[in-house]
Amino acid sequence: MITPPSPHGSRSETAETFLRDFHNAGPGRQSVNTERAPLADGRTGYQVLAAEVAGARRVLDLGCADGGLLEVLAAAGARELAGIDLADQELALARLRPALADADLRQGRAQELPFADDSFDAVVSHMALMLMHDVDRIAAEAARVLVAGGRLAVAVGGGAVEGEAMSLFLTLARPYFDAASPERSVPRLGDGRARSREGLDELFGPAGFAPVSWDTVVLDMGGTPEQVWDALTEAYYEMAALDRDQTARLRAEFLAAAESLRGADTRVPAGMRLNIATTRLHHATD
Ligand SMILES: C[S@@+](CC[C@H](N)C(=O)[O-])C[C@H]1O[C@@H](n2cnc3c(N)ncnc32)[C@H](O)[C@@H]1O
Repeated sequence: MITPPSPHGSRSETAETFLRDFHNAGPGRQSVNTERAPLADGRTGYQVLAAEVAGARRVLDLGCADGGLLEVLAAAGARELAGIDLADQELALARLRPALADADLRQGRAQELPFADDSFDAVVSHMALMLMHDVDRIAAEAARVLVAGGRLAVAVGGGAVEGEAMSLFLTLARPYFDAASPERSVPRLGDGRARSREGLDELFGPAGFAPVSWDTVVLDMGGTPEQVWDALTEAYYEMAALDRDQTARLRAEFLAAAESLRGADTRVPAGMRLNIATTRLHHATD
């Protein structure tokens, strides 16, 4: 799921309640969206992230939801898998995946990991860290549960490719999101520092991690205008703030405007950047 960036340091007591309720009401959406929006080379965001921790045997996923990334890690050879998520309905779906029959899946907060010190070779998180608050605590917790030299790999949203349909959608949707009635509005989610290379270094450096390596890939959410609308409206938490009439008006505006983006193959391009940050926990002697 995606949310436009929130300002540095913004926190909300209600953010986790919103996220838990949202994901319990509609579990499994992020993995469907991830699997239908691959890179140009056909890989999914899960596969890109899993490759960053190749060879790790014990892996923990922060904000694992319905286990899409954990399943890819299992297929890649990881043997002791664990995940934590706020939403128990997401975890219920994860438990239905045969590949995760032995995974240690916990309902809880990434800020308070219910795992022993030095128990993982890698910690991963896909499209979740940028929604979380108290990220300094998450960094400290990740460092605690990782072995010395252990790897951390996170994928965070990097925004829309300009001139394509996701960018168009955001331009059209912004006034609707801003005008949402206060009782429906979505709380500010996450800490803006989790979205940038410098911010992640600021958060993870003090916990003992080396400066992050940074890579950007582009996910293709393109299709017919209707398919793109479906994918984007599934992906944005802020759509929950719009009533039926607002949603219908935004849809009509988007579908009309998206016609101008149709290529010769009648497809509308809708690129979204995914930023991949990887680092290692320093060895005790570093
Ligand atoms: C956009 S979804 C991504 C799910 C999954 N990583 C994926 O890519 O398929 C974000 C997930 O993070 C979880 N989440 C958000 N804040 C969390 C926190 N503080 N601790 C644990 N899970 C959290 C949400 O419940 C949600 O399932």
